Amino acid sequence: MTVLEIVRRYTEEDESSNLSCGGNISFLDLHPGEKVLDLGCGRGEETLQAATLVGGDGFAWGLDITPKMIERAQQRANQGSIKNVVFLISSMEKIPLEDASLDAVLSNCAINHVEDKVAVYREIYRLLKSGGRFVVSDIMTETPLPSEIKQDPEAVAACFGGAIMVKEYEEVLVSAGFDRIEIFKERRYVKNGYEMISRTFQGKKR
Ligand SMILES: C[S@@+](CC[C@H](N)C(=O)[O-])C[C@H]1O[C@@H](n2cnc3c(N)ncnc32)[C@H](O)[C@@H]1O
Repeated sequence: MTVLEIVRRYTEEDESSNLSCGGNISFLDLHPGEKVLDLGCGRGEETLQAATLVGGDGFAWGLDITPKMIERAQQRANQGSIKNVVFLISSMEKIPLEDASLDAVLSNCAINHVEDKVAVYREIYRLLKSGGRFVVSDIMTETPLPSEIKQDPEAVAACFGGAIMVKEYEEVLVSAGFDRIEIFKERRYVKNGYEMISRTFQGKKR
């Protein structure tokens, strides 16, 4: 139900709308030759930037659950003649890539949509090489959202109903294997009457 609402929302999203909450690619410090994955890549803006930064010896994957987003991302890659990129239609809870195959993972304002955030971070951990890193921008709250909001597919699709508390989020990261987190930036704002925190942070696989 919630997944259908998410796909509906992003399929109908206007081309000119801004979908980002962070903008984190500069924090990832990508180098030529690296392999990188963008989770919930949307129209692929940051995936294509990543592909350019890692160059012809590197590779970028963009993954999104909404086929329309992947279609637009692929069109952009074709227009820019960017070849070292593949876009995948998939849920980020089960990612069709091999263990320890990536140097870096990024995700911008997408993981909040997924109910099982531990599954997502376990996938990130599985995919990263030893010493690999992720940089994520995501939303969280200081106080719990009411359960009717958490269970409302429209609220989850609208980038606030799926937010969990900062403390819960930190527990998710630890249980997936990321025990040292560095926060790069944070912004507080009110959405639909609820106080939200948008945070950009990094974790590393030891
Ligand atoms: C707010 S948009 C962000 C898009 C892009 N990262 C950006 O910053 O412009 C969230 C994206 O996450 C995708 N998404 C939501 N749930 C997902 C899931 N379970 N697996 C993969 N992608 C998902 C949506 O389809 C949407 O494209």
